[in-house]
Amino acid sequence: MRVTMIGSGYVGLVSGACFADFGHEVTCVDTDAGKIAALKRGEIPIYEPGLDDLVANNVRAGRLSFTTELAGPVAAADAVFIAVGTPSRRGDGHADLTYVHQAARDVVAAIEGFTVVVTKSTVPVGTGDEVERIMRETRADADFAVVSNPEFLREGAAIADFKRPDRIVIGTEDDRARKVMEDLYRPLYLNAAPLLFTARRTSELIKYAGNAFLATKITFINEMADLCERVGANVQEVARGIGLDNRIGGKFLHAGPGYGGSCFPKDTLALIKTAQDMESPLRLVETVVAVNDQRKRAMARKVIAACGGSVRGKRIAILGLAFKPNTDDMREAPSLSIVTALLDAGAEITAYDPEAMASAKPLMPEIAYAPDAYSCLEGADALVIVTEWDAFRALDLGRVKAALRHPVVVDLRNIYRSGEMRERGFTYVNVGNA
Ligand SMILES: NC(=O)c1ccc[n+]([C@@H]2O[C@H](COP(=O)([O-])OP(=O)(O)OC[C@H]3O[C@@H](n4cnc5c(N)ncnc54)[C@H](O)[C@@H]3O)[C@@H](O)[C@H]2O)c1
Repeated sequence: MRVTMIGSGYVGLVSGACFADFGHEVTCVDTDAGKIAALKRGEIPIYEPGLDDLVANNVRAGRLSFTTELAGPVAAADAVFIAVGTPSRRGDGHADLTYVHQAARDVVAAIEGFTVVVTKSTVPVGTGDEVERIMRETRADADFAVVSNPEFLREGAAIADFKRPDRIVIGTEDDRARKVMEDLYRPLYLNAAPLLFTARRTSELIKYAGNAFLATKITFINEMADLCERVGANVQEVARGIGLDNRIGGKFLHAGPGYGGSCFPKDTLALIKTAQDMESPLRLVETVVAVNDQRKRAMARKVIAACGGSVRGKRIAILGLAFKPNTDDMREAPSLSIVTALLDAGAEITAYDPEAMASAKPLMPEIAYAPDAYSCLEGADALVIVTEWDAFRALDLGRVKAALRHPVVVDLRNIYRSGEMRERGFTYVNVGNA
């Protein structure tokens, strides 16, 4: 089948490359000419494990190509996916649908014959109706169906998530569109991934409900970690103790500095706004967002306390800047709030991240960047672990101690054991006495 992706970012590029790998003929379109030029040169503009090989193999096989010109590939497509960004709208937190609406206008002007237009971007309930209205208004004679197909992949494990999803959600009541979507996803269906067909509005809401639930789970264990610190309990054991209950499940129960990233913060906010507009407020999710916002700065206070109550004039080494390991994505990364709060408190910061430094530098130009983990620590008054990259899990602790001016380690991801760290003479602080 012929597939055209509008938007070649984290979702569009990964989905496009995976569809090509299934044997479909895929064109990835983007308005960012620099991104497309890089992709044509064989350079991958984002860090995602395995993506470079997947793209190269499918380009070589003639199934995957890149362009800024939307008309030709859209005219030829059986299915056009809209995978453009839906950031928070400045000022009110609603999802900004400017890019989605523009893509809808561009697409409908170019389609030929029956075409399925699939919204893969995360969009508020009712966006499919609005996209359909815009398309009909722009071109009354066009033959299309608008389908919702939210994406659940996680950055850092995106290819595996796309190829072996827990489920594929497809929102449509159009039989022709249903058939096209079944054919597109047939390779996954054969792998026993369930295809869940729903009404379009239901499908749109499933995506937000899923993210809001996961954000709630993280925030729950984070608050439990604070309580553990007060009462002398261990949050990792609490998480394991409750997570072994099948009704709860062990995932998303890792206490840490609060969730960040390109999805949870903006999606929880957009869901809250939709619910408020509909006069059906989601008070639980509102609280989750408020608790999570406060948490990031609270993590800076934790660092300040570990440094004896002040970081003024002290040098703090930060390991890990990306919002999670195995990505270079800095969107809403906890490191941004933590670094800002520490700078406000008078600290000097040196940071290291294996992949995210290029994306971090424009956002945090006032801090120093080290070429590797050990030089980052050299002469620092404290080490703060913010992102749990594998490369930080087994640091040579002798070398760490020798490099630091004061042996203070604040481990916001609980990747070290407190007993061992204290035996080695570190002042060690983590989240929830883990
Ligand atoms: N990143 C994730 O992990 C993830 C996971 C699930 C869902 N999503 C959702 O998927 C959507 C895309 O997210 P992303 O992280 O890939 O964003 P991104 O910012 O990495 O990529 C979006 C791309 O769309 C391009 N674009 C914008 N308008 C365009 C237009 N009219 N025509 C062609 N290209 C255009 C941009 O230049 C950009 O390259 C969002 O709605 C997001 O919420 C993201």
